[in-house]
Amino acid sequence: MSKLAVTPHANNFGARIQGIQLQSPLSEDLVNEIRDIWHQYQVVYFPNQPLDHPQLEQFSLSIGNFGDDPYVESIEGHNNILEVRREPNEDIAPFGGSWHSDWSFQLTPPSATILHAKIVPPVGGDTHYADSIRAYEALDAALREELDAMTTTHSARRSYSHEAYKKGGERTGMKILPSEKAWDTQIHPLVRTHPDSGRKGLWINPVYTLKINELAEKDSDELLEKLFAHILKPEFIYEHTWAENMLTMWDNRSVMHCAQGGYNGYRRVMHRTTIAGTQPF
Ligand code: SIN
Repeated sequence: MSKLAVTPHANNFGARIQGIQLQSPLSEDLVNEIRDIWHQYQVVYFPNQPLDHPQLEQFSLSIGNFGDDPYVESIEGHNNILEVRREPNEDIAPFGGSWHSDWSFQLTPPSATILHAKIVPPVGGDTHYADSIRAYEALDAALREELDAMTTTHSARRSYSHEAYKKGGERTGMKILPSEKAWDTQIHPLVRTHPDSGRKGLWINPVYTLKINELAEKDSDELLEKLFAHILKPEFIYEHTWAENMLTMWDNRSVMHCAQGGYNGYRRVMHRTTIAGTQPF
């Protein structure tokens, strides 16, 4: 019998997992069980997991190989850990503070993002998640069929080009590495099929999705706006509140997320890894 205690949130979107310590290597059976729970609930979190860098790396590698994390300097000596840090005096939007899926402009965006809370402010600093699978399934059949045939263009330019970086203001807590590479584009299907569950979801996000390729600019903007408004309906959202040492892993293939502010005057520090994914289809 499983030793994991799983507490799902509303609509089976998001679940707490207890009854496990992530500091030591996990058996293959346990990792498979965690993977199944993660596929089912899409966002899973483990409270009370004090982890040092090697332990975070070890847990991440049990889920899969590391992804490729561009545009943000990693922690010295730990190329695959990013520190998401905002200092008490920083007057800038939180890193990841607009709805997005991580690195969706890549050919093979990450399958998972893992975030480990080191310093949590006493107010604010939640992360909100949106369920793109249930949002897709809730659309009427005719629109789903139309969307199934469409493709989109993604790019990092709105966040990581030199121009965007200048406009966005300087971060002191993190070192962002803007680059000409941010102008590259990547074509993806608008609707992607989850490689493990086989369920379809909307694979678009307001930060990196520039346009729907099959539509004129105005029609593309209008449809994207309509779809974003749909995905962000309260019934598709899970609002996650952090505690120190909590580890959260979300399915980047079917979930958008958005870091919340509301903690000016306090420090917030998270350590993040991504797990390599496959090309959306
Ligand atoms: C991110 O977008 O990866 C950061 C999320 C957060 O800090 O809550």
